[in-house]
Amino acid sequence: MNILIINGPNLNLLGKREPAIYGTATFEDYFKELQEKFSTLNLTYYQSNIEGELIDKLHEVGFSYDGIVFNAGAYTHTSVGLGDAIKGIETPVIEVHISNVHAREEFRHTSFLAPNVRGIIAGFGMQSYDLAIQSFL
Ligand code: DQA
Repeated sequence: MNILIINGPNLNLLGKREPAIYGTATFEDYFKELQEKFSTLNLTYYQSNIEGELIDKLHEVGFSYDGIVFNAGAYTHTSVGLGDAIKGIETPVIEVHISNVHAREEFRHTSFLAPNVRGIIAGFGMQSYDLAIQSFL
């Protein structure tokens, strides 16, 4: 089973960025744990701060992979293009957020991805990714 985790803008800074909200672990370290835990899966990871690159990656894997776990960061709340890209591909996408976006600022309550994803997991810290992977099993 091929599962890709995609992280969007500023998530390359996990571990350093606003640790009170996002924790102190780097995503690279957490990803190693996920690969060990889900060792029967072909679990891969991609990060970009650039909206067009995220769209290109969705197109690249979106007709062959079994699942995509996508934290689009701030683009969640702004990007019609990412929402359309998810709508246009066949691979199911789970939207994830480390923080509970609904307990934060009003602008984080809107998601342009939500109408086109299979489901949404938010607020469980890094474990949100783990729960999203489990939903594909
Ligand atoms: C986030 C929540 C977004 O509102 C924010 O812009 C992020 C991270 C999360 O994982 O909690 O960059 O997607």
